[in-house]
Amino acid sequence: MQVAIYLFKSSKTNLGYRCLLLSHPSSSPVYLDWNDALPVLRRAYDLGLFTMIIGPKGTGKTTLVRAFGAEIGRTLFPVNFSLRTRESHLIGTKTLENGGVGFVDGILVESMKLGGLLYLDELNAAEADVLLRLDEALDDRRQVVLKESEGQTITASKGWTVIATINPLSHVGTKELPPQLLSRFPVRLRLEYPPEEVEVDIIRRHTSIENSALASTRMGVKLANKLREAAAVEELYYSPSMRETIAFSKLIESGSEAKYAAQLVFANVYGQWGDVEYRKVMDMITSIFGN
Ligand SMILES: Nc1ncnc2c1ncn2[C@@H]1O[C@H](COP(=O)(O)OP(=O)(O)O)[C@@H](O)[C@H]1O
Ligand SMILES: [Mg+2]
Repeated sequence: MQVAIYLFKSSKTNLGYRCLLLSHPSSSPVYLDWNDALPVLRRAYDLGLFTMIIGPKGTGKTTLVRAFGAEIGRTLFPVNFSLRTRESHLIGTKTLENGGVGFVDGILVESMKLGGLLYLDELNAAEADVLLRLDEALDDRRQVVLKESEGQTITASKGWTVIATINPLSHVGTKELPPQLLSRFPVRLRLEYPPEEVEVDIIRRHTSIENSALASTRMGVKLANKLREAAAVEELYYSPSMRETIAFSKLIESGSEAKYAAQLVFANVYGQWGDVEYRKVMDMITSIFGN
């Protein structure tokens, strides 16, 4: 059983965000709804509309959808799209059992039958034929015909809903979604990296850093934002996500020295593009953390 508790943050930051505590240990411990995305998802859900979330990696898209699934008490059916995702993954596959032919439902069909929350992650990494099949289920009838089986028509149970995420087109392997499919998701949320102070608050939900570790975390977030800015104007090849800033703080929390932790998490990765790129980042680290 998952229990949702809302906390309203003081108006100190003037953001008025709230967070959602999930009792399930495997869920994200706390989702900090810093840009009021949960009420938007809720409104869309109540109106029977599907939502698309657009944003770069590590901005909290998956965590947000998980928190929302818990809020509305729907089982999450996640599909992480790649070029290898096949129609059979969504629809199902024929099986041979004891000489007879059976059918194992794919994740789309299963979610429709059970009235769950279908989470289509990185939808713009999917192949066209897969998208076409999805489109069938997402139109107003909410039906899919199992031509792979015996041609039955599956109609979605009450409460069935769909949320998709797409990465910005600059990401490797992403394609433009066909406009037809895009129109199935008329509510669009953009999730960017949060303001620095909010990112620090998010990190604090994943760690118990205080005092000097907190000060180092602030510097780490500052560095991450400089790297993101540099990547946005193509001065660097890579942009660190919140996964990295959280990892950095965890290293600090476990006793790592700040500059060394910054090198491990933020600088070394640039080595794959050569020494010049790596040096550029080390210089930024030195200017923030000292020698
Ligand atoms: N608003 C938030 N509240 C709590 N944790 C967050 C928030 N945003 C991001 N995170 C954390 O940052 C990391 C990356 O988030 P994730 O949801 O996996 O991003 P995405 O799906 O956009 O790649 C996860 O550890 C996640 O728990
Ligand atoms: Mg994700």
